[in-house]
Amino acid sequence: MKEKVKNMKKEFDEAILGIHSLNELNEVRVAYLSKKGKVTELSLLMREIPNEQKKEFGMLLNEIRNYVTEKLEEVKKQLEADELNKKLEKEKIDISLPATKIKIGSPNILEKIIEEVEELFMSMGYDVVDGPEIEQDLYNFELLNLPKGHAARDAQDTFYLKGEELLLRSQTSPVQVRTMLEKKGKEPIRIICPGKTYRRDPDDATHSHQFMQIEGLLIDKEVSLSNLKGTFDVVAKKLFGPDCKTRFRPSYYQFTEPSVETDISCFKCKGEGCSLCKNTGWITVSGAGMVHPKVLENCGYDPKEWMGFAFGFGAERLAMLKYGIHDIRTFYNTDLRETECFDRREGQE
Ligand code: DAH
Repeated sequence: MKEKVKNMKKEFDEAILGIHSLNELNEVRVAYLSKKGKVTELSLLMREIPNEQKKEFGMLLNEIRNYVTEKLEEVKKQLEADELNKKLEKEKIDISLPATKIKIGSPNILEKIIEEVEELFMSMGYDVVDGPEIEQDLYNFELLNLPKGHAARDAQDTFYLKGEELLLRSQTSPVQVRTMLEKKGKEPIRIICPGKTYRRDPDDATHSHQFMQIEGLLIDKEVSLSNLKGTFDVVAKKLFGPDCKTRFRPSYYQFTEPSVETDISCFKCKGEGCSLCKNTGWITVSGAGMVHPKVLENCGYDPKEWMGFAFGFGAERLAMLKYGIHDIRTFYNTDLRETECFDRREGQE
């Protein structure tokens, strides 16, 4: 009997040498350990063994079963490790190869200048607010002291929608009156509102039917034109450098009194006179003024108690000046090379 077990072990040892795959391993497992396998068959011989030898034979059987099970497990682990190594070998990565370049976008130049202005005003305690682009005549004109039929409306060639009560806002100034109405009782007010505006302008190098404005408004008890001048000075120096000078020229807007045009000294010729500043040494960048008492009244503010200033920059104009862009359409085309080129130029500064 012992001989039989010995032979089977020898046969098994030879069988496992021939295993080269998990499939073959399974075949050997079935041949030895299944219900009809060789180890099981051996245990059936127990019946024929005299009682006094049963214990010894039982132990022998356990031993061989454990041996076969452990050996098969060992071979299985080895096969799995070999397989993994083969796989790793196949998937080897050559880290010396150059990587595929991922194209990185760059922010639109207009977006960038708006963010710069936003950050600057936020650092001075202003909130950034939004307003609707489809606006009511009431906010775009009437409350801003531009009643129906007023000649000054013609200056803003407006896109009207639905029977002239609704329109595409022709300026961001309606956000002033919307904010004043909303913030009544929660003064002082300090806001800027960057946003799209629309006019029936021809599309050429300096005009677009859609453009961005940045509106600003401050309402408090003691506000003067010199506060506006100081604020404008900070913005101009931040955007165009510490040598930038500023000046106000009298102007006329229906919603401010007095009204001004705000100029910066020409950064190209340093005031000497050149084609950019049309030989004046100055460049106009925004309209502004002290909020008209009528506008304050229209929004429920007593002009004897409250006052404020307001301004409106053309964002494209700021960016064109700052980056030396000659065609407003540059901002709206989708050629990534252009934004990339402005990015590069900034990096060199
Ligand atoms: N809304 C004016 C325009 O589009 C610009 C402007 C001028 C805005 C004076 C203001 C202001 O807030 O006070 O031409």
